[in-house]
Formats: sequence, structure tokens, C-alpha cells
Amino acid sequence: MYKRIELPYDFNSLEPYIDEATMRTHYGKHHLAYETNLNKALENNEEYTKGKTLEQLLKNIDELPEGIKTAVVNNGGGVSNHNLYFSILSPNAKKTPEGKLLEAINKTFGSVDNLKEELNNASISIFGSGFAFLVKDKEGNLSIVKRPNQNSPAMDGLVPVIAVDVWEHAYYLNYKNLRADYVKNIWNVIDWGKVEELYEEDYNI
Ligand SMILES: [Fe+2]
Repeated sequence: MYKRIELPYDFNSLEPYIDEATMRTHYGKHHLAYETNLNKALENNEEYTKGKTLEQLLKNIDELPEGIKTAVVNNGGGVSNHNLYFSILSPNAKKTPEGKLLEAINKTFGSVDNLKEELNNASISIFGSGFAFLVKDKEGNLSIVKRPNQNSPAMDGLVPVIAVDVWEHAYYLNYKNLRADYVKNIWNVIDWGKVEELYEEDYNI
């Protein structure tokens, strides 16, 4: 069984940047559906999941039987991507990165503002549904990647440390068609303290 994270804050606590109704539906319905459908697909397939984190399962997706592969890409990616997305948001977000993460950002992007701009541009330019991510590789190098639908960067051996969900379910109730406003505003609730933790963790997929 793979699980959604418990939401570590109230549904209304990210307002006005992300509204309560969106959070209730996003976490309570969409995220729940990914969890339910993932575990349904993996029923009676314990030999493939034993001892593996969800991200390790996704990285080794080609080892899965053809009959469940697509369901695991979609729903396993859905659980993993949303666990990251919800866990890096916070009503008490640390506003700037420090330490090793800041060094890596400066080295790769020149500045935090440049990183934000590049990630915003990536988020806005996704056609249809998907995510933009800040990822680290095995050596701790940072880059920005885009993925369609619920595809996880873990499938390519990359560990995401920021996920920006640009499915319409993430913003449409509040922002309607204005994805760029949602993407700009999300920086108010992205917790750099959490992102630092994820960056400093050992590579583990
Ligand atoms: Fe989502």
C-alpha cells in the first residue's frame, strides 16, 4: 500500500493564494483517487513493490507487467507528485533558501529570482495538464524539467524537490484560465525550508 501524505495544514490556510475549495477537492478527491487507483492496480503484485518506495517503483517501471504499467505511471506518479506538491506548501513558508541549496541555485541559475522565472516559464508553457519540477540528479545538480500528465521525474532517475502542479484542478476554481497568476502566487506558500531538506537528503531512488 502506498499512501498520500497527511496534509500538514488546514485546507483554508494557504489563502488567498490557494483557496479552500480548491484544496478540499484537490487533496480530498483527486489525490485520494490516485491513491485508491494505484493500490488497486498493485493488488496481488507484492513481488514488485516489496521493500520499494513509490519513487523506486517508478524508477523501475519497466520491470512491471505490461497490464499494470500505465496505471502505475498515472496513479503512482499522481501520488508521488502530489505528495511532493502538498508537502512543500506551507502557510508559514520560509521565504528564501539558504545553505547548500542556495549555493546550488546560484551555481546553476545565477540567482533565486532567475530560478523562479525559469520555473514559472516552464509551468506556463506546459500544453494541457502536467507539472514543472525543480529536480536534482545523483550528483546534486539542479535542473528544471516539465512532465505531461502525472509522469514522474523519478522514472528518469531524477529526484524532484519542487513540484508545480498546473493541472486545471490545481487552480481553476480561483484563477479560472489565468494559470500565470497562480504560478506567480504559489511562491508565497512554497516553503524553502522543506525544499532545503529534500535537497540535502541522500539520493535514494
Ligand atoms: Fe493535482
